[in-house]
Amino acid sequence: MAAKIIDGKTISAAVKEQVRAEIERDRIKAGLAVVIVGDDPASRVYVNNKKKACELCGIQSFEYALPAETSEEQLLELVDTLNSDDKVNGILVQLPLPKHLDEKKVIERISPLKDVDAFHEMNVGKIMIGNYAFLPCTPAGCMELIRSTGVDIAGKECVVIGRSNIVGKPMAMLLLHANGTVTVCHSKTHDLPEVCRRADILIAAVGKPNFVTADMVKPGAVVIDVGINRMENGKLCGDVKFDEVSEKAGFITPVPGGVGPMTIAMLMRNTLTAAKIQAK
Ligand code: GUN
Repeated sequence: MAAKIIDGKTISAAVKEQVRAEIERDRIKAGLAVVIVGDDPASRVYVNNKKKACELCGIQSFEYALPAETSEEQLLELVDTLNSDDKVNGILVQLPLPKHLDEKKVIERISPLKDVDAFHEMNVGKIMIGNYAFLPCTPAGCMELIRSTGVDIAGKECVVIGRSNIVGKPMAMLLLHANGTVTVCHSKTHDLPEVCRRADILIAAVGKPNFVTADMVKPGAVVIDVGINRMENGKLCGDVKFDEVSEKAGFITPVPGGVGPMTIAMLMRNTLTAAKIQAK
């Protein structure tokens, strides 16, 4: 039987509408600074989408588009300026940065109170112990998508493929906080298909097109595809082989239109949270 498609566009629109309504109701002033260095076309698309979402939610957005040859000192100086700007509640430095810039150093320079990506060590630590203001955007978006299925995470076998700091690791933490039994797989995992087949909830965050095939999926499973891979023909493709897995899974997210829009919606929610914290 064909899987139900989890509609990230509709669910993300509802989250953005909640944010918009709260900002309007409580007359909150919220501002997000987005910094982009260089001219990576994918980053440009993401940044434009973030700007559009800000407009929709009533969040003021400030864009800083810097040339690829920007020095680390210049970038850190900009971060310092934004840290002390009261109109800026959230700061997002679009990754990846050009190779000559140290991403870690830049992220750690962002004030943890304005770190709406939740990439700063302090926020990562808070996520680990389950005491956090900012949710990591992509994993938090995945959680909303899982909740939308009505499947209760508590006690379920949850398998995360990929162990990145941005997705895999925080995803595992959020599932654990929701009382899932969590396994994280990676390139050194023995018999990865067998581990995946145990999953009631399977999260693919590998960055390899069509990596998850139907033989790796338990019938009826919830399959969340975090992959956004650009194919040679220009089309986007997820980490999951959608055509065959959608015949076996219970629920599945499409690419595009699944996790992608949720990440941005959660960023809007974090920016609102930042504005509220800083107003106190
Ligand atoms: N590049 C790809 N995804 C993200 C994200 O969520 N935040 C930032 N800052 N850069 C990214």
